[in-house]
Amino acid sequence: MIEVTAVSKQFGAFTAVSQLSFDVQAGEVVGLLGENGAGKTTTMRMIATILKPTAGDIRIGGVSVVAEPMVVRKEIGLLFGGDVGLYNRLTATENIAYFGRLYGLDEQTLARRIDELSEMLDMKAYLDRRVGVFSRGMKQKVAIARSLVHDPAVILLDEPTTGLDVSGATIFRRLIEELRRAGKTILFSSHNMSEVERLCDRVLIMHKGRMNVTGTIQELREAYGMDDLNDLFIRAVTGGDVRA
Ligand SMILES: Nc1ncnc2c1ncn2[C@@H]1O[C@H](COP(=O)(O)OP(=O)(O)OP(=O)(O)O)[C@@H](O)[C@H]1O
Ligand SMILES: [Mg+2]
Repeated sequence: MIEVTAVSKQFGAFTAVSQLSFDVQAGEVVGLLGENGAGKTTTMRMIATILKPTAGDIRIGGVSVVAEPMVVRKEIGLLFGGDVGLYNRLTATENIAYFGRLYGLDEQTLARRIDELSEMLDMKAYLDRRVGVFSRGMKQKVAIARSLVHDPAVILLDEPTTGLDVSGATIFRRLIEELRRAGKTILFSSHNMSEVERLCDRVLIMHKGRMNVTGTIQELREAYGMDDLNDLFIRAVTGGDVRA
């Protein structure tokens, strides 16, 4: 569903992503890992058509993000952790609805989606309050709902659980499992290895803009002869190119 082929991204003379290739299939949850500055966000922004690759191509369901960004965009749900950029003076519902309308949803579909998502994310209690007064985790849930409102086939989540408490993170995991069952294609980045282990079918580890390692966690454990994922991650980014 997502096909990244020999993609590079330069910012001036600086190479943020170099000759990156990987695929993610429908129904698969893939973790994009790497140290700060490895190129994860840059990669997601290119898949989401926000940044244009300097070289190479990315296809979503066979359609090139470079040649037909507007076609691809409808199929993509994108969430960035950290500052999620909601409209503080609007309520949660209004924030989500605003995006839904941008994607061309009719009012009936929009109301149904907001109902489903707020149920799944356990945020019904504060749907009609202005997000300006929300805690970070509450805002994050609104942002998750907003990124999924148009029922995209491809879901890109950049550090989605930043700011969520334990129950928020659990709700998020259940949501991902549900989306996987629905056949969605999910790529997400995280620095939380236990979350990665619980959620991901497979991981991609980037280092300095390149793909160092890919495989299932089980395959990586066997390839490195290590059980602890944090140790394994450090080995993967600093040491060997072990391809499982
Ligand atoms: N717009 C930009 N202009 C110049 N350099 C950029 C730009 N965006 C990203 N970079 C650089 O590209 C590199 C990769 O950044 P990126 O944000 O993709 O990393 P990341 O893997 O998401 O890191 P983190 O885990 O900290 O989120 C960094 O060195 C960053 O400074
Ligand atoms: Mg990032």
